[in-house]
Amino acid sequence: MIVLGLESSCDETAAALVDGDRRILADEILSQLDDHRPYGGIVPEIAARAHLDHMDGIVARALDRAGVGLAEIDGVAATGGPGLIGGVMVGMMTAKAIALAAGKPLVAVNHLEGHALTARLTDGLDFPYLLLLVSGGHCQLLIVEGVGRYVRLGTTIDDAVGEAFDKAAKLLGLGYPGGPEIERAAAAGDPARFDLPRPMKGRPGSDFSFSGLKTALRRARETLPAPGLNDTVRADLAAGFQAAVADALTDRTANAIDAFLDRHPPAAGEPRHLVVAGGVAANRFLRARLEALAAGRGLAFAAPPPRLCTDNGAMIAWAGLERLRLGLTDGLDFAPRPRWPLDAPKMAAPKVAVQ
Ligand code: KG4
Ligand code: ZN
Repeated sequence: MIVLGLESSCDETAAALVDGDRRILADEILSQLDDHRPYGGIVPEIAARAHLDHMDGIVARALDRAGVGLAEIDGVAATGGPGLIGGVMVGMMTAKAIALAAGKPLVAVNHLEGHALTARLTDGLDFPYLLLLVSGGHCQLLIVEGVGRYVRLGTTIDDAVGEAFDKAAKLLGLGYPGGPEIERAAAAGDPARFDLPRPMKGRPGSDFSFSGLKTALRRARETLPAPGLNDTVRADLAAGFQAAVADALTDRTANAIDAFLDRHPPAAGEPRHLVVAGGVAANRFLRARLEALAAGRGLAFAAPPPRLCTDNGAMIAWAGLERLRLGLTDGLDFAPRPRWPLDAPKMAAPKVAVQ
């Protein structure tokens, strides 16, 4: 089975082909970072236009790389939401046109399900596993019990963790996207120099909060003694911020591990997995902390390679393939969804575009 997958819900125009043996036949991606960088964040209208300009070419390139014609694919998948609606519409319309022209089934994939199932593509994991999904738009702990079957244990009550990284980077005068910039700056910094809060730490449950940490970082920056913000201070603040995020994430995840093992006690000889996915999972410091947490609790750890942690087409193609194998296809009347919680039944999502 071969599935073509399209991703366009944020600032990456991507198309990929995967097969049922977990092979990535092609994985084309065009980042719009340079278009958005001057604005310090993603501008939805610029993103939508760029997707429109490039999606056709990216799809053609992916098919070419894979050496596969449309007649040979078994289905076409595209991100159906959640995300910036203009971009999602471009991807869905392209996928619908291909499905119609080639006479292939269409699968509308929840972008979060793409991130959630990536560990099955990269590591061949069985259900169930515990997932920490950390990206620019999302911060959730979920038990992944099957395709379309998710139990949400916690979510952010304010900012997503990637968003917090991006805002922190802006405060420190670092570039966009902020995550990689903070990670780079933090490598040379002293995480203990500034006393930053660990939001939600010690509280029951698995919800997250990052706005207090951002405020504390701003205050620390504003009250710096002379000479103010230089490279050393910047590195120390970045390291302090990253360490605080790591403490918050591991504390919340520890509680989720309890809930997960309660619901799914490990069978003899079969380790349960903690999986980290989403753009922030590219961070090596955070990965190491989470891996240590998992090891301490007798869990195996899996994290897709960084390229498959950030937005990409392969995760959408793979989620599409998993759905297609179960006969879960969508009609050509599927309406893109700006909001689409992963644990909501598919039919319950709104059909109209609301921002
Ligand atoms: O999954 P993703 O590519 O897009 C969304 O669906 O949001 O995630 C992008 C987010 C950005 O906020 C970016 O700053 C963050 O992931 N990110 C990182 C790192 N690389 C990307 N955050 C921390 N450390 C990194 N190395
Ligand atoms: Zn994403």
